[in-house]
Amino acid sequence: MAASADPEIVVIGCGISGIAAAQRLVRAGFHHVRILEATARSGGRIKSGRLGNNITEIGASYIHGPSEENPLFCLARDYGLLDPEALKPENQAMYIDERPHWSPNWFSCSGQRLSTELMRPALDMFNELMDEIEQFHNRRETPWPSVGHFIRSEARQRAAEKWKDKDKNTQELLLCGLSAKLKDEVCASATHTMDEVDLAGFSMFEGLSGLDCNLPGAFEDLIKNLMSELPADSVTYNRPVRCVHWNSTENGVSTVTVECDDGERIAADHVIVTVPLGYLKKHHSTLFCPPLPAHKLHSVQKLGFGTCNKIYVEFESPWWDADCDIIHLVWEDEGDILVHIKDISKSWIKKMSTFTVLKYCERGSHVLCGWISGQESEYMESLPEEELRSSITELIRTFTGNPTITPRGILRTQWFHDPWTCGSFCYPAVGVSAQDLENMMEPLPVKGSQSQPLQVLFAGEATHPCHYSTVHGALLTGWREADRLISHYSTVSP
Ligand SMILES: Cc1cc2nc3c(=O)[nH]c(=O)nc-3n(C[C@H](O)[C@H](O)[C@H](O)COP(=O)(O)OP(=O)(O)OC[C@H]3O[C@@H](n4cnc5c(N)ncnc54)[C@H](O)[C@@H]3O)c2cc1C
Ligand SMILES: *[C@@H]1O[C@H](CO)[C@@H](O)[C@H](O)[C@H]1NC(C)=O
Ligand SMILES: *[C@@H]1O[C@H](CO)[C@@H](O)[C@H](O)[C@H]1NC(C)=O
Repeated sequence: MAASADPEIVVIGCGISGIAAAQRLVRAGFHHVRILEATARSGGRIKSGRLGNNITEIGASYIHGPSEENPLFCLARDYGLLDPEALKPENQAMYIDERPHWSPNWFSCSGQRLSTELMRPALDMFNELMDEIEQFHNRRETPWPSVGHFIRSEARQRAAEKWKDKDKNTQELLLCGLSAKLKDEVCASATHTMDEVDLAGFSMFEGLSGLDCNLPGAFEDLIKNLMSELPADSVTYNRPVRCVHWNSTENGVSTVTVECDDGERIAADHVIVTVPLGYLKKHHSTLFCPPLPAHKLHSVQKLGFGTCNKIYVEFESPWWDADCDIIHLVWEDEGDILVHIKDISKSWIKKMSTFTVLKYCERGSHVLCGWISGQESEYMESLPEEELRSSITELIRTFTGNPTITPRGILRTQWFHDPWTCGSFCYPAVGVSAQDLENMMEPLPVKGSQSQPLQVLFAGEATHPCHYSTVHGALLTGWREADRLISHYSTVSP
């Protein structure tokens, strides 16, 4: 890079994408890179917390697809943050859906333990249907608008055929089991129901090989390591950006001005915006002056961004099997697989169907992670602590049929009410296409404009064409935008 070309670059947001962009730019020799972060911390949606003495992940907990082609895996490995298990070639070679099945425990709302054998057909049918969604990839027209419509309609039909030898009660119970699985899937897409998720768009997401793994320490360790590679004064905390003024010409030179909440104005040649899509949806009209071009704004509005929360619950002793990885709760009145809860304030808890068993727990401690998504999840966030505790206690007592089980500690996440995130992560809402993700990542001004190029660039989880909603996706977008600037300056330099 020519010494004369050392532009002022401002990165908005100190999550993994912002950090990744800054780190790569600094490495490439750019000296004027500055991150402005609204909160007092770095990491964004990577955030580790504590429940008692046990580490819990408030945000991301898994590396999805930990293998060589996953840059997040490589980073975590190089920093020495992975368990030896995750480094094994067998682990890296396996795809998540080839997983020797997670060992489940099933419970029903009448307080019965349901056998794995009895419930297996529900799991098999669910996996079969999810696998078949791939066939709609890139289709302009699909027989059903959404993943939910597809699953519901096909499941009912196939159940009648495949399970015709089973008695009516068992058939009904299996459909309820399918409903439980669907509620679990809703969490993976951070949406309200799978009826909101586009059937063709669902397969835009590309999985990587490798069985998902956790960081045995804390996910935030990764952030600490990355941050240590940035110059000490790179980040200004507690500095929310109010508005990005772009496309203005002063004395014949166009610059971008970043206006902070405290009134400070920072001039820059380039701004990399990494704010979450939820924040963008809510604040786009004030965040950009002039406003975003219509096609880009459209994509911001079309792409889905919903809420998925976790409720960690700690127990004195486990009420699940020693080898159990996942607990499914089956409500016996959901044979229609509609997942439609009428009175959210009274029945929000019916949206909870899955608890995963925490692996890296300190000895003597037994922690489950409950998952809840959608409007019920948003409602749950606002409940008083005591009410949440009694609802969870009642839920577990109902399903186990054991009236004495009492949680020791509870910790919930509240991503919807986080003012700088406004939800959890993005998903392909009905109507979304690959073009929308292209629009998300397109820099401003758009191609063909006469004004100075690359004034505003966009990174962040929701700007990756096929790894959106993940940490590795976010990481890649940060590097992508850094590379965009690096190659820009390498071509304009003498
Ligand atoms: C509950 C939950 C579970 C998840 N689980 C996983 C998982 O297991 N595996 C996985 O791969 N991914 C998971 N994810 C997704 C993953 O956490 C995100 O995709 C990723 O961390 C996003 O990084 P980012 O840099 O795009 O955004 P963020 O980390 O959100 O960073 C954006 C930053 O911008 C800041 N900001 C916002 N507005 C302003 C402003 N006006 N001015 C200045 N700064 C601002 C925010 O404070 C934030 O620090 C999960 C997410 C959630 C919420
Ligand atoms: C996990 O947290 C609980 C406190 O809620 C504590 O009693 C338990 O000992 C912790 N695990 C350990 C041993 O660190
Ligand atoms: C940006 O500035 C150019 C030149 O002044 C102008 O032609 C164009 O309309 C502006 N674009 C926007 C989005 O305001």
